Amino acid sequence: MFKNIILTGFMGVGKTSVGTKLAQDLGYTFVDTDTLIEADQKMTITDIFAKLGEPRFRDIESTVIGKILQGERQIISTGGGAVIRDANRDAFRKAGFVVCLSARAEVIFERVKQETHRPLLQTPDPLAKINELLENRARFYSQADLSIDTSGKTVDEVVHIIKERIRHAYC
Ligand code: S3P
Repeated sequence: MFKNIILTGFMGVGKTSVGTKLAQDLGYTFVDTDTLIEADQKMTITDIFAKLGEPRFRDIESTVIGKILQGERQIISTGGGAVIRDANRDAFRKAGFVVCLSARAEVIFERVKQETHRPLLQTPDPLAKINELLENRARFYSQADLSIDTSGKTVDEVVHIIKERIRHAYC
């Protein structure tokens, strides 16, 4: 089996729901980098962005990723911007099987529009911001071992696709 399965992808694509179910099914531990960052800093992601700024958040994120990737038998849900750093992507590749979840911009917007905990989307036009970030990050998200568009799919369907793929990769 793979040492770890690393879930990448934009905000609102379903990394937490898919990762939680996948971890249950495989008997792996589910970990979420944002949760670890908040515990480490004793601050919410919103406060880290507001008080320390995004560049500092990215440094903390890379440190947390470096630590968590030392472990194994984990399903690791990564923050949507973690892929923008080359070092993070290299580390993901070395530490396990990388699955990128995606969704259409409109689907992401519908999923996140009532939420307030993602500082990058607290703008007057979140859909435009989603499109802008998706475009900037597309070349990073595409560097995964497996990519799945979750638009219109249930969590169980996405989990099934991942399990089938890792079964074939392993056999
Ligand atoms: C971010 C995604 C968030 C969180 C932070 C920045 C991003 O994680 O790390 O708000 O840059 O896309 P989720 O993808 O888990 O929402």
